[in-house]
Amino acid sequence: MATDPDDFERMWRDLAPVGRSASSGGYFRQPFTSAEREATAWFLEQVESRGLEVERDRFGNLVAWWRPSTGSTTRDALLTGSHLDSVLDGGAYDGPLGVVTALAAVDVLRERGFTPDRPIGIGAFVEEEGSRFGLACLGSRLAAGTTSWERARGLTDRDGVSFEDALADTVVGDTDLLAGVGMFVELHVEQGRDLVDREEPIGAASAIWPHGRYRFDFTGQANHAGTTRMEDRHDPMLSYAMTALAANKQARLSGQRATFGRVDVRPNGTNAVPSAVTAWLDARAETSEHLDALLADVERQAQERAGRDGTALTVTPESVSPAVHFDPDLARAIARPHDWPVIPTMAGHDAGVLSAAGIPTAMLFVRNPTGVSHSPDEHAEMPDSLAGVDALADTLERLA
Ligand code: GLV
Ligand code: MN
Ligand code: MN
Repeated sequence: MATDPDDFERMWRDLAPVGRSASSGGYFRQPFTSAEREATAWFLEQVESRGLEVERDRFGNLVAWWRPSTGSTTRDALLTGSHLDSVLDGGAYDGPLGVVTALAAVDVLRERGFTPDRPIGIGAFVEEEGSRFGLACLGSRLAAGTTSWERARGLTDRDGVSFEDALADTVVGDTDLLAGVGMFVELHVEQGRDLVDREEPIGAASAIWPHGRYRFDFTGQANHAGTTRMEDRHDPMLSYAMTALAANKQARLSGQRATFGRVDVRPNGTNAVPSAVTAWLDARAETSEHLDALLADVERQAQERAGRDGTALTVTPESVSPAVHFDPDLARAIARPHDWPVIPTMAGHDAGVLSAAGIPTAMLFVRNPTGVSHSPDEHAEMPDSLAGVDALADTLERLA
């Protein structure tokens, strides 16, 4: 049976204005902000109207359950869903597409008259992007137990608010949401051009590249921008600037990825040589060995430059995740009947966290015509999103 386009389209239209910036058209749905709370409230209305039962854990994660019969437990449950938060000035699709297609897929399955043999849950994980507290996939890491509460509680946002304090105003529960979960399937907008190049609307994931986030703290000497001779300066901005160029070159030479997308300059005045620059390197590579080598090369060049500038540098890893290889049998079983390609991704996902925690996990990707993501320009065409609904419904039907 075909998807009812109104259902998905209406939901997509309803959610579209939540957290969208009037100036850029991008989304600011950082965890526990009013925009993210509004998106979550919208999700709760949707699950309530479908008669799904909501469970929460103490970290702010949610799962809405479609149980085959009253009284059944969540043992061997099939979990789907994604996240509702966004990066700063992000796109509409990264996260919400997986949640909204999951709601629509449940509708499709019910229209088909399908009754699952195992519970199906729609999850919404907190702080997937790490855009507020710095650690990507924070909610799923806490749910899976791969990050401890002791570490997470003290993480702070840019205003010094801790994760624990931000969570204090949020409705939480005490369910271990993953306790009975036997499988996870996350649908996501593709964040590259692989499916476009293959002229395929849907793909399945094979693996996620290793990923590291590292804080580079450069310190120098604040001084007058006019009176300080150029040769007398200890300018951490120069050390940082050379490091950003070196990271880009090193990644290009080795076929990996390196990005400095966040910088904090102190005191950030026009007429002063800065005293300190903190910058965050996001690096991704084919293997952990390649990632370590990339970081070592960038750090070595940065230290050499700092030596020449008379500045100091310390590098602190904030999160490092190894490669994830999704269950190959599950990926094949999902992809083969439809001839969907099975492709790797360089983006991180809650699916990677759950897979690493031992839950058989698969991902479906929906084509993104430009491949642009983490940007207001992120996009999926409506027919492809609807193909995603059907793809997810078919997959859940086969697995449940
Ligand atoms: C999350 O989307 C990431 O890959 O950073
Ligand atoms: Mn995402
Ligand atoms: Mn993302």
